[in-house]
Amino acid sequence: MKVLIVGSGGREHAIATSVAKSNKVDKIYCAPGNAGIGMIAECVPIGAMEFDKLVDFAKSEQIDLTIVGMDDPLVGGLVDELENAGIRTFGPRKNAAILEGSKAFSKDLMKKYNIPTAAYENFDDADKAMAYLEKADFPIVLKADGLALGKGVLICQNLEEAKEGVKSIMLDKQFGSAGNTLVIEEFMTGREVSVLSYVDGKTIKTMTSAQDHKRAGDGDTGLNTGGMGTFSPSPFYTKEVDEFCRKYIYQPTVDAMASEGREFKGIIFFGLMLTEKGPKVLEYNARFGDPEAQVVLPRMKNDIIEVMEACIDGTLDKVDLQFEDNAAVCVVLASDGYPVKYEKGFVIKGLEKFEGQDSYFCFHAGTKKTDEGIVTNGGRVLGITAKGADLKQARANAYAATEWVEFDNKYMRHDIGKAIDEA
Ligand code: AMP
Ligand code: GLY
Repeated sequence: MKVLIVGSGGREHAIATSVAKSNKVDKIYCAPGNAGIGMIAECVPIGAMEFDKLVDFAKSEQIDLTIVGMDDPLVGGLVDELENAGIRTFGPRKNAAILEGSKAFSKDLMKKYNIPTAAYENFDDADKAMAYLEKADFPIVLKADGLALGKGVLICQNLEEAKEGVKSIMLDKQFGSAGNTLVIEEFMTGREVSVLSYVDGKTIKTMTSAQDHKRAGDGDTGLNTGGMGTFSPSPFYTKEVDEFCRKYIYQPTVDAMASEGREFKGIIFFGLMLTEKGPKVLEYNARFGDPEAQVVLPRMKNDIIEVMEACIDGTLDKVDLQFEDNAAVCVVLASDGYPVKYEKGFVIKGLEKFEGQDSYFCFHAGTKKTDEGIVTNGGRVLGITAKGADLKQARANAYAATEWVEFDNKYMRHDIGKAIDEA
């Protein structure tokens, strides 16, 4: 079959790598893709938000399955457009992708269906938000309702900071219309875990757990980023935590969406915080996490096409989802200065060392093919993933492999997976 993947990051490279392993697949296209994806797929120069062009391409190339990796096109309704044109597509429709697209929606859903999450209020009026803050406890969390590249969350230590935050989100529109509505939320403490799952509208099958490192600097300092590295599984995601989440979070979320007439098919990413009072939902995403996908997918034993088709066909209950009994760590190699300001266009050397390896992966995020070779083309450049028998081995392997590649202004965190030592 012919598969089209929509997106251009490390997540889409990880998806493409899994798709390439399926013996059902003859040809992979990726729109727009990147230099690494171009080694296993044909990249087509169509942006992820160019819906008409994507539909035309899928029709004219007779694509059998389209996989939408990114949040913006999902929330914008690309799946609806493709399905309405008769193209089989993996991912939630617009009325279900709102689970990620609106934090106010997701908070209201959790409240209505008693799914554990932080206490909160939604505001569409800045004055009312300011008045609420006068009586609030600190720290407190402000969240822009809509998509904001993972940057729409502010943790405010005091009233002054919080008022400044309301101003920048709601009045100055730092995140554009994403800030028309604001969620003000109780601050929670605990360990964070990401659990990604396949959903077919009724049945949910969770994947192995993972943990991201969102801050730019070692010791969780600096600005929030898209994610600087991950490990999987999380040693803090115990059997007891899993049992609790299955009962009170996972299936209840899928059932809640169905009850609301918003049947969810695709990936639900549960961002969880393991608080003293039990696991609570920090956020939902309607897609694979990036870089979570880069440690979870290489450990999946199933044929990804079979699992995705089961989600589309509503037969996920028949799938026995299995993961390798090992561990994986991903260290992101970024351009120095990310996430604020950084230079691009530096030649990347050493990529060939990953060829023919099956426990080491070099997932491309911001890269581009030029006449001089493959060059850096973004903030997050590469995700270096390695497997190992356990987390410590995987971490040692991943850090060793970060030395295989060189480019000017290469930057990485040196403490990805440090939490493993505390487990
Ligand atoms: P989100 O985009 O909702 O995952 O938020 C980004 C990050 O902000 C999370 O990964 C947490 O580290 C932090 N965060 C979000 N909500 C809360 C909360 N209620 N309490 C504490 N930290 C939070
Ligand atoms: N790594 C977090 C995300 O993909 O949202």
